[in-house]
Amino acid sequence: MSEQPTKMWSGRFREPLDAAFEQWQRSFPFDVRLLAQEVAASKAHARMIAAAGILTDAELEKMIDGLDQVGDITPEFAPIEPGFVSPRLLGAELGTSPRSIRRWLSRQPEFCEDHVKHTRIVLAKDDPLLLRMKNHFAIQANLNLDGDAAYEEFSAATEADLAASMAHAEDIHHFVELQLTRVIGPLALKLHTGRSRNEQIATDMRLFVREAIDVTVKGLRRWALALVELAEQAGDAAMPSYTHMQRAEPVLVAHWLLAYVAMIERDVTRLTDARRRMNLCPLGSGAVAGATLALDRTIAARELGFDGPTQNSMDATSDRDFLLEFTQALATLGVHISRFAEEITLYSTAEFGFLDLPEAFSTGSSAMPQKKNPDFTELMRGKSARLAGAATTLAVLMKGLPLAYNKDLQEGQEPVFDAADTVRGILGILPAFTRSLKFNFERMKTAAATGYLNAMAAATYLSNKGVPFRKAHEIVGNAVRLGLESGRELDALPLAELQELSPAFGEDFHAAIALEATLDCHDVVGGTARARVHAALTEARQRLSSDVSAQL
Ligand code: ARG
Repeated sequence: MSEQPTKMWSGRFREPLDAAFEQWQRSFPFDVRLLAQEVAASKAHARMIAAAGILTDAELEKMIDGLDQVGDITPEFAPIEPGFVSPRLLGAELGTSPRSIRRWLSRQPEFCEDHVKHTRIVLAKDDPLLLRMKNHFAIQANLNLDGDAAYEEFSAATEADLAASMAHAEDIHHFVELQLTRVIGPLALKLHTGRSRNEQIATDMRLFVREAIDVTVKGLRRWALALVELAEQAGDAAMPSYTHMQRAEPVLVAHWLLAYVAMIERDVTRLTDARRRMNLCPLGSGAVAGATLALDRTIAARELGFDGPTQNSMDATSDRDFLLEFTQALATLGVHISRFAEEITLYSTAEFGFLDLPEAFSTGSSAMPQKKNPDFTELMRGKSARLAGAATTLAVLMKGLPLAYNKDLQEGQEPVFDAADTVRGILGILPAFTRSLKFNFERMKTAAATGYLNAMAAATYLSNKGVPFRKAHEIVGNAVRLGLESGRELDALPLAELQELSPAFGEDFHAAIALEATLDCHDVVGGTARARVHAALTEARQRLSSDVSAQL
């Protein structure tokens, strides 16, 4: 640390910072979770300045190695998960460099994002890739990945340095610079050539959101598949549909479930669309006006998997549309999750009795012994409020900001992290919860078959007989009144009585208002006729298992 001033900007200042203000303005406590992104972006920047002649090949090599080591640090915030492999320790063990291990792994076709966490490599004991790696590098079969090779024991001096960096780093950019200095010495101070934290945070957040979108889309796909499975199991079971929360017409249970699949598919397109728009690299934008070095910005863009560099440096350093779009898409998703949660909560009540809450996702009451409470659905409904809150925070944060970077933007990080975590938490549970729902099909059917839900089908029957629909509506209304007065459903009214209301009623009337017929008369694309729902279900399954969607 003696190599470097403790601040990134102390040169022009004579007075020290007010101690309370200094602590209060730090973003490190929350932006520390951007360590992986900061390291990746710094490596890309290093390659870009090396190409511009600022670093020799040997210096670049040393810097990349150093940054990898900083990325391998497991500060308290990143839990050590079983399966973590430290490429450095592994390299030492095998007499090869950590980079050759990383490089080998990244070239393997099976290597995917599940193998990377907080910049570290994760390999489960039964991962086939582990076996191949062992063979390739001739690793001893008994190498214990959870122990020795998982994380480094630091010397007391390093521990102290790390603790000091964590206590003082202003933000993740500062932390990485401090730690890189510890690892590779004064060469680290060249890394900041031609860059600004303004473009760094813009890049890190893009990388974070891009990954969060991919995780969310995967989770959504799992939930949609769970709904499709449930719909397939429901077969031709019927339930009432509601408008104004009053029983309307019978629908297939599968049709109701597929309504949520439609919402989810829209959510997926919103997220992937936002991802496409945001996938440009701000590196090379400098503080506001563009880098002061002739950098080839495509190098960094390519290295980080972006489609290209951003268009305008003022926009790139201050644009947070991608955070706004991401949180707005999650807020909309939250609305869908909350509507589902609300319906499940309602349908599980004794009053509806359409389903039994799965015990594994419910809790009891400390006061009332008979209770089984729908905590999961209630909490989902509640958490959707946080998602709406994040989108609102971002919109209000942005609306009055003059170009370009303003420190206010630092406040945009936490709501994004919170929204991403909230959705990740929900989607980690929701597919299993959905699969475990057990419907009371008898009760749903009874509800669908009582309360004159076939009145619309009855009116349609009359209009098919040539009665104008307005008239048919009125005749069936009269029939319903007759039924209400005498405690009978429409199908219990004998033909003779019906014919007093209209001669258009014929022998085939009762068949036309049976449950199956009332379903099947909605024979349009998107309707609840049984054949249409079967087709919709097959199509939904195909869409969800198609390669395109699997790649999302
Ligand atoms: N922590 C800062 C943020 O989140 C990083 C950028 C700081 N830039 C600056 N000029 N102070 O926005």
